Amino acid sequence: MYYIGIDLGTSAVKLLLMNEMGGIEAVVSKEYPLFFPEPGWSEQNPEDWYSQSMEGLKELTSGIDKSQIGGISFGGQMHGLVVLDKEDKVIRPAILWNDGRTYKECDYLNNEIGKDKLSTYTANIAFTGFTAPKLLWMKANEPEKFARIEKIMLPKDYLAYKLTGVHCTDVSDASGMLLFDVKNRCWSKEMCEICGVSMDQLADIYESYESVGELLPEVAEELGFPKTVKVAAGAGDNAAAAVGTGTVGDGNCNISLGTSGTVFIASKSFGVDKFNALHSFAHADGSYHLMGCMLSAASCNKWWMEDILQTKAFSKEQQDIETLGENHVFFLPYLMGERSPHNDPDARGTFIGMSMDTKRSDMTQAVLEGVAFALRDSLEVAKSLGIQIERTKICGGGAKSPLWKKIIANVLNIKVDVIESEEGPALGGAMLAAVACGEFKNVEEAAQKIVKVVDTIEPEPELAAKYEKKYQVFKEIYPQCKSIFKLLSVSNR
Ligand code: XUL
Repeated sequence: MYYIGIDLGTSAVKLLLMNEMGGIEAVVSKEYPLFFPEPGWSEQNPEDWYSQSMEGLKELTSGIDKSQIGGISFGGQMHGLVVLDKEDKVIRPAILWNDGRTYKECDYLNNEIGKDKLSTYTANIAFTGFTAPKLLWMKANEPEKFARIEKIMLPKDYLAYKLTGVHCTDVSDASGMLLFDVKNRCWSKEMCEICGVSMDQLADIYESYESVGELLPEVAEELGFPKTVKVAAGAGDNAAAAVGTGTVGDGNCNISLGTSGTVFIASKSFGVDKFNALHSFAHADGSYHLMGCMLSAASCNKWWMEDILQTKAFSKEQQDIETLGENHVFFLPYLMGERSPHNDPDARGTFIGMSMDTKRSDMTQAVLEGVAFALRDSLEVAKSLGIQIERTKICGGGAKSPLWKKIIANVLNIKVDVIESEEGPALGGAMLAAVACGEFKNVEEAAQKIVKVVDTIEPEPELAAKYEKKYQVFKEIYPQCKSIFKLLSVSNR
């Protein structure tokens, strides 16, 4: 049998075809545009996601016996607000996870409703990218459109809906809406009231590995797939990536170096970071996880390479980087504001420490190191909660760079396990589909049988010590710049 994982990302949708042994048969990627209509805003058209996914599905399966396709599932960019009217038409472009427009709504939720209440209802507090503040923003700024909302969805759930006609979501992705009672894995009545939405507008909740239904006949016909293909609920991209890297069970860690950067810590039991710097979400394996999320990770490097240096030769640029741990240039990677741990939509990217002898490669190195230092910030929060992390898996586009992986191992001073494929969310999606079809007993069994570690990058004590000193400097930069970011902020323009 074949299982398909769809990773609905921010720059592209990646589709992966897996056989029943867990072997990856093919991967296809289809891009779509990302719009920044105002500074700090970030939007996409859900119709683009669907049309590119359909194109991708056709290409992915063009040479195979389609009668052997068993199931499809997803890893999807989280938190995005997709709203449909009563004719199932998208009311406005989706407002994405890295959109910072809802700072007023977050102030209201965190300070007037209060962080304690939010944390009691949902295990989390408000961040600008989360879904509930976006609903409040629509209510205040687009009241007519808000009044037309019939269905509220997350990005990958829009795809599931188009494929099956079922209005569904899964526990891991729902966790990032701030409308979900993570501990009890159900919608929060209190949060619905606070946001002025009714439970009917929200989707039915499934575990990530549960089937929500079969393909609609017209979709099956267009794709040439059997009508019996099952669609499993899937997961938010980070939980799906964790499945795809075998990060299930207790205390295991995965770092994702995609557009965003995350430190994901799986946990058998429910727990909340008392400062709410880390998110407390449900996991796709039926348990829970803690997660720190930085808004710009591999996207900082992409921006630096493609937009500023005007090159696509990523590895060639990294070849000139010889000495690690001695760079005088630092970079704050806050190009879209920052989520964990600062929760500051006004924060911005910053280079500091250049002198007349600074080279292009020092700046490139500072970008890679700045992302690693910011990941370390989340790891430090986990440590402060008594969680000891000795090793991590790694996935995402940035994980293709051996240099970046070495920097991360030494800045975080943990072992980095490299697995066969860095296609975390797409592979995780395919694995969830296989579990839904009964190919594996549960997600843990699928992870044990499929995921293989092929290399481990060990931190080098001398280099880790040098980076420790550099991290102490990095930590000082944001607090010193914070008031300047406020002066530069949209609200002060
Ligand atoms: C997680 C988050 C990002 C997106 C990226 O909280 O916002 O990792 O899921 O797709």
